[in-house]
Amino acid sequence: MNSSRRQFLRNTLAGTTVLTVGGVLPGFSAGSYARILGANERVRVGMMGVNSRGLALATNFALQPNCEVISVSDVDSRAADKCIATVETTQKSKPKAQPDFRRALEDKNMDALVVAAPDHWHAPAAILASKAGKHVYLEKPCSHNPNEGEMLVAIAKKYRNVIQMGNQRRSWPNVVAGIDALKAGAIGRPYFAKGWYTNNRASIGVGKEVAVPAWLNYDLWQGPAPRKPFKDNLIHYNWHWLWNWGTGEALNNGTHMLDLMRWGLGVEYPTRVSSSGGRFRYKDDWETPDTQVINLDFANNTTMSWEGRSCNGRTVEGSSVGVMFYGEKGSLLLDGGNSYKIFDLDNKVVKDVKNDLVIDPRDKMNPSQALDALHIQNFFDGIKKGTPLAAEIVGGHQSTLLAQLGNIALRVGETLHLDPANGHIKNNPQAQQLWGREYQSGWEPTV
Ligand SMILES: NC(=O)c1ccc[n+]([C@@H]2O[C@H](COP(=O)([O-])OP(=O)(O)OC[C@H]3O[C@@H](n4cnc5c(N)ncnc54)[C@H](O)[C@@H]3O)[C@@H](O)[C@H]2O)c1
Repeated sequence: MNSSRRQFLRNTLAGTTVLTVGGVLPGFSAGSYARILGANERVRVGMMGVNSRGLALATNFALQPNCEVISVSDVDSRAADKCIATVETTQKSKPKAQPDFRRALEDKNMDALVVAAPDHWHAPAAILASKAGKHVYLEKPCSHNPNEGEMLVAIAKKYRNVIQMGNQRRSWPNVVAGIDALKAGAIGRPYFAKGWYTNNRASIGVGKEVAVPAWLNYDLWQGPAPRKPFKDNLIHYNWHWLWNWGTGEALNNGTHMLDLMRWGLGVEYPTRVSSSGGRFRYKDDWETPDTQVINLDFANNTTMSWEGRSCNGRTVEGSSVGVMFYGEKGSLLLDGGNSYKIFDLDNKVVKDVKNDLVIDPRDKMNPSQALDALHIQNFFDGIKKGTPLAAEIVGGHQSTLLAQLGNIALRVGETLHLDPANGHIKNNPQAQQLWGREYQSGWEPTV
């Protein structure tokens, strides 16, 4: 057993934490369930949230020869049934249906939880899983708000488990090569990065309060979020655009590009953030902006800007999603896929590294299965060998925070000034209010 694994076991075994969120599992001694994994043993994972992205991940995890999906948790029984059938066909063994993921966490055979539930569940679920002695594959954004991001960093430090965020491009070979080229000086010093996401999303309409359908446990779907009545246009997916559960396009798709920009410019926390935009295209229940620009300044004389257009799919540089780095001697394009291109200052292409796999950035579920498997294998290597993670949680929090700060700046209508040591907002009580969130009583996450 390697030292990080031993340390993880020591820490989790030392813990006598009882899971309390939601007030269930009385007496469950979480830390006692950390399992020792042999080098050739399969990693046994439980899935939480399997409608769209979770189904794609379940399929991908089940396809990995060194993995077994042992349980499937979803509060939508239809989504769970479909996922169980798909996984059974893929891996030839049937995962257990466990509608409440907190019960699934009690299984001492589970090594890791894969979280692909809505954003308001990400950090609270990852925290519960960590306390239960599990590793976590945590979909982006890692948190609903900055305070939760900081809690995740603290929890990973406390339990020393492996938490990999689902910003999978960190594991794509030609993206890594592009960032390496950037760092090797291919365009001189990069000092400005521009990222974008564009789509033609339809209106979500105005929802009606209706009875909760029989296939849904709406109370557990809401979990830590303050209770709101069930409406017929909320589930699935449209919650992305409502602040109680979602985080808008900036965290939905912006997180991926802001992460690449932060990586390429070699920065952590900004000094100043501003944002403009709004819900411009339709008048409906959608609360988050459908059009947004976020500008971030950093202490090392670099700037980044992210543009989101949820309802006008006109591409930028021929791609619906991407990042361009601008430097002293040229520019470097990451077009959202497994590829990169370098231009000189006269716009001449000086290097063109193409992707050899089909990627559809507008495929909500599974844009890039083969490439994402690399991210999953890196997660397994982190668990078994202590290999450094491509998307560890400190960096995951830093990237997610950039989008969160953009949303906060937009919501308060002011430029935010920040402490570059930790991204904390200075001298703005209204903005500081949005650093955390209100929780449904009894569901508050704790470190
Ligand atoms: N990395 C990527 O490229 C990528 C791509 C798509 C989505 N995502 C992320 O994945 C997450 C899910 O996205 P989606 O499009 O599949 O959303 P979705 O709304 O279609 O599916 C979410 C699923 O989670 C389930 N769920 C809710 N509460 C639950 C609970 N307490 N326990 C178990 N299941 C619960 C829902 O019933 C639903 O089936 C989002 O946070 C999104 O940002 C990441």
